[in-house]
Amino acid sequence: MLGLLLLLQVLASCLWLGHSEVVTAFLGPCAQFFYAQTPPSGALRPTNAARICQVYDNKYRFATLYDRNRRIPVYSAYIYQPGNGSRYDRWFVEPQLINETYNKNMDEEDDIIRRYQITSADVGKSQAIDQDYMNLADLDRGHLSPSSHHNDDKWSWATFTLTNIVPQDRKLNQNAWRMYEEDTMSKNSQGCDTTYVITGAVPGNTTVPSGRVNIPSYIWSAACCVKDKKPLKAWGALAENEINKNVVENLTLGRLETQLKKLYNGTVTLFSNSCTQE
Ligand SMILES: *[C@@H]1O[C@H](CO)[C@@H](O)[C@H](O)[C@H]1NC(C)=O
Ligand SMILES: *[C@@H]1O[C@H](CO)[C@@H](O)[C@H](O)[C@H]1NC(C)=O
Ligand SMILES: *[C@@H]1O[C@H](CO)[C@@H](O)[C@H](O)[C@H]1NC(C)=O
Ligand SMILES: *[C@@H]1O[C@H](CO)[C@@H](O)[C@H](O)[C@H]1NC(C)=O
Ligand SMILES: *[C@@H]1O[C@H](CO)[C@@H](O)[C@H](O)[C@H]1NC(C)=O
Repeated sequence: MLGLLLLLQVLASCLWLGHSEVVTAFLGPCAQFFYAQTPPSGALRPTNAARICQVYDNKYRFATLYDRNRRIPVYSAYIYQPGNGSRYDRWFVEPQLINETYNKNMDEEDDIIRRYQITSADVGKSQAIDQDYMNLADLDRGHLSPSSHHNDDKWSWATFTLTNIVPQDRKLNQNAWRMYEEDTMSKNSQGCDTTYVITGAVPGNTTVPSGRVNIPSYIWSAACCVKDKKPLKAWGALAENEINKNVVENLTLGRLETQLKKLYNGTVTLFSNSCTQE
């Protein structure tokens, strides 16, 4: 049995080595961002999704499930380590969504265009680009893995990739959602050794003016708090991404999953064993 397990493990790591950072499963270095190394299961799977192990400066920073058709993330998963990392003043895109042979590090569009001799339109086929987010009335570039939840510059800069961003109502992003990110998260995570977070966006019926990027109908977040290697508690939050609504609802994890079941038309399990038992 042990031999078989070992063999499976070796096989799994060989498979892993064969893949680039846009991957077929969140394994290897990418599994660390999920509680119990287990990604969400159930209805959070659009038909043309890409799993991105977000790499910046050759380090794995967080994980994103990306909807290539709607050009928004389904969710980003990361470990909460709030701090004073600075913001990055430009935006990255994901080279491996353009062509799987490209570099695994996120990079700026201009650099990719120069390096691979391609056009902005080539980049935009597989993902949102800076241009899609220019001059949006009432909409911010809303981070799913926010820069303030990482505690040094490079970790924070890595969140400035358009594969981690959705068009988010400006008022919500700058008020109620920000309060959730800063105050609620900090209060709720008191006493936790490690807090695993998954933040996602429910696709909506409308797009930004370019017609290329979906405007989500809801933004949600869930957290699993671990202390002494055991799950201690979990919580959730849900916000309608509607102009000037600016309300974030605190929910239990179970209640959030019930709401998500309705919104995604199928059962959603965010954390292994609901983060309540091993
Ligand atoms: C961030 O900076 C503020 C002000 O300098 C300081 O009070 C706070 O402790 C810092 N937070 C972290 C997590 O380093
Ligand atoms: C990806 O890039 C490689 C190397 O530049 C090229 O040979 C290949 O045709 C590209 N694949 C696609 C799908 O564009
Ligand atoms: C959500 O919970 C946090 C932490 O308990 C609390 O500070 C905050 O006021 C609550 N927000 C709402 C909208 O109820
Ligand atoms: C999107 O359109 C469908 C079908 O018309 C409707 O059932 C659904 O409620 C709409 N969703 C939103 C967020 O408006
Ligand atoms: C769920 O079903 C409704 C009604 O059929 C549809 O409008 C909506 O887009 C579906 N949601 C997702 C995430 O597929």
